[in-house]
Amino acid sequence: MKPLFSSFLFAAAALALAAAASTGTDPGISFEYHRYDELRKALVSVWLQCPTITRIYTIGESFEGRELLVLEMSDNPGTHEPGEPEFKYIANMHGNEAVGRELVIYLAQYLCNQYQQGNDTIIELIHNTRIHLMPSMNPDGFEKAASQPGEIKDWFVGRSNAQGVDLNRNFPDLDHIIYINEREGGANNHLLQNMKKAVDENTKLAPETKAVIHWIMDIPFVLSANLHGGDVVANYPYDETRSESAHEYSASPDDVMFKSLARAYSMFNPVMSDPHRPPCRKNDDDSSFKDGITNGGAWYSVPGGMQDFNYLSSNCFEITLELSCDKFPNEEMLKNYWEQNRDSLVNYIEQTHRGVKGFVRDLQGSPISNATISVEGIDHDITTAKDGDYWRLLAPGNYKVAASAPGFLTVIKKVAVPYSPATRVDFELESLMERKEEEREELMDWWKMMSETLNF
Ligand SMILES: *[C@@H]1O[C@H](CO)[C@@H](O)[C@H](O)[C@H]1NC(C)=O
Ligand SMILES: *[C@@H]1O[C@H](CO)[C@@H](O)[C@H](O)[C@H]1NC(C)=O
Ligand SMILES: [Zn+2]
Repeated sequence: MKPLFSSFLFAAAALALAAAASTGTDPGISFEYHRYDELRKALVSVWLQCPTITRIYTIGESFEGRELLVLEMSDNPGTHEPGEPEFKYIANMHGNEAVGRELVIYLAQYLCNQYQQGNDTIIELIHNTRIHLMPSMNPDGFEKAASQPGEIKDWFVGRSNAQGVDLNRNFPDLDHIIYINEREGGANNHLLQNMKKAVDENTKLAPETKAVIHWIMDIPFVLSANLHGGDVVANYPYDETRSESAHEYSASPDDVMFKSLARAYSMFNPVMSDPHRPPCRKNDDDSSFKDGITNGGAWYSVPGGMQDFNYLSSNCFEITLELSCDKFPNEEMLKNYWEQNRDSLVNYIEQTHRGVKGFVRDLQGSPISNATISVEGIDHDITTAKDGDYWRLLAPGNYKVAASAPGFLTVIKKVAVPYSPATRVDFELESLMERKEEEREELMDWWKMMSETLNF
């Protein structure tokens, strides 16, 4: 056993060296398409290379039974560390939009390599963020698209899942609910609260959609991006218009921050941010694009999309990235796309560390989960996670931030927020019962004092 094992290690080391020598700038990354089995192998080799900071898990299966695989990167894989924010990339939900799928695989390889080489930026990122990478939400669609003979792929084949469902139109339409609540009053966050059973029983939801809904609702994600192809732009909420017209700017309460997040991606991508980039096809209407970003509704209305679902059902802010004019380009182009997007992909993960973060606890120091964090002037609250920890993404400025929970007195704090890093603000809430007890004691003291003074 032993000699075999060490010769295996030796062979692996030699291979790694050979790969490093052959590819120059980003050693250890093979710029090629990965079919389903190859994708699994690629993730496993990242895990073998960086076992202390990675974990592979699956959130469920596609309609045809392929795993929806996730590679997690963190200094403590498998656990949510109190106070540490969580991030995700989801790619290839349209199975024929292949560039994002490959970039997420290359990103995993890059982060592992850089971590091992001692790159401080990457080490700090992985130590302070729990990063989840899902290269494909629609592995069935990808296999269908990739199986077409020849290099030119059809524009639509493989877009939907194996049941013919467009997964980016399949999420519960929470925009519809929020637009009613805006007019008539009602919740401004977590609109699917206490409706997990209804999700499970809903026969219109594809298995891929259900698995992702559970994932979104179970993990305290702070930030996310959904990677697509067919155009080149960073798209931010809302995607669905208020008036149901096809094109209309549809601001969310966090419009300022969402623009800043979308720019944090586009800025580092020289093609996306190029003001003179011609439209992908000469008749495309790109009039809503500015600095490589666009509001979703201003571009075209999308009901039932994943991006708005994240924002309206959880604490997670998500944007949609269109990475390439060509949905399934020739393999030789992949290295180019990686180079255009590499810095953007890393910089966007770093946005997780903006705004205000901290803990909400009671006076005994016990965490208060599901407490509400509200920001004056922004009609979208977020909630604390299991350990009382919260992350509230905010653009630079001065804010009044309130923490509240049923049975506790609300606390409001003034906070100055720089561009980054996030400002730490903890809250200690006094329970109403404690307050009553205090008032009773004060009253007793007063009586005692009065009776002593008046001698009765
Ligand atoms: C470390 O990683 C950052 C982020 O990807 C990158 O910009 C930088 O060039 C890397 N440093 C080295 C020495 O490779
Ligand atoms: C969280 O709090 C909200 C409002 O206070 C409540 O409606 C909801 O049921 C709570 N959720 C859980 C899981 O306790
Ligand atoms: Zn798409």
